Amino acid sequence: MRRKLVAGNWKMHGLRAQLNEVEAIATSAAANPLVEVALCVPFTLIAPAAAVAGTLPIGAQDVHEAESGAHTGCVSAAMLREAGATLTIVGHSERRADQHETSHDAWAKAAAAHRAGLKVILCCGETEAEHNAGRAERIVQSQIEKSLPDGASPDWLTLAYEPRWAIGTGRTPSLDQIESMHAIARAKLRMMIGEAADGIRILYGGSVTAANAEPILSVENVDGALVGGASLTAARFVPIIEAAAMASARN
Ligand code: 13P
Repeated sequence: MRRKLVAGNWKMHGLRAQLNEVEAIATSAAANPLVEVALCVPFTLIAPAAAVAGTLPIGAQDVHEAESGAHTGCVSAAMLREAGATLTIVGHSERRADQHETSHDAWAKAAAAHRAGLKVILCCGETEAEHNAGRAERIVQSQIEKSLPDGASPDWLTLAYEPRWAIGTGRTPSLDQIESMHAIARAKLRMMIGEAADGIRILYGGSVTAANAEPILSVENVDGALVGGASLTAARFVPIIEAAAMASARN
């Protein structure tokens, strides 16, 4: 009942020279209707990417919580909309680490994005130290508790579980660990919003590649993937979209 979503996060990669990759990814997305695909690109690439992406949704990777104001260097949800974005990531662990963002910030950003009509991918995930200390469960529960926006609904909100130690490292949790963390996230959502939680997609993110996508995407409560490095080229990303289509077909 939850259509799988494969979202690319280009992080700080992508110039106009890479728009041919956007086009190729859009072509594959259109050919795989079982799966929803989206691409979150740098701010500067949103408008040009949206111009070539056809029906492929183009998203941002962050948004400011205010509608406008004296916030040098920041971008509002309305600006993202006008540039052609239809969604945004909030609370990514790189922003938590590099820009010291908190779960409360993610909550405010998600609410602002929703008010402006953007869909939201809200990220959570423990660090390696927290993982090694056996605190992953409590950290993720607390992040969801503090960042889940009011009125959270499957229509506009997707959760992404990204253990920080798996991002860009080539290391992934075992399938059992992924299943257990996604079950914990689902249970937390249910506690907070009841039955609506069952419609909310929970993506896995962290070193997803063509080689591991199909088994990961077949795990219970894994409703898609948030893909960094392997989303930068169609050659690496399209096989992940196809793996998601295979996993969906078998469900
Ligand atoms: P990698 O797929 O490069 O590990 O990045 C994952 C991620 O952070 C996606 O948001």
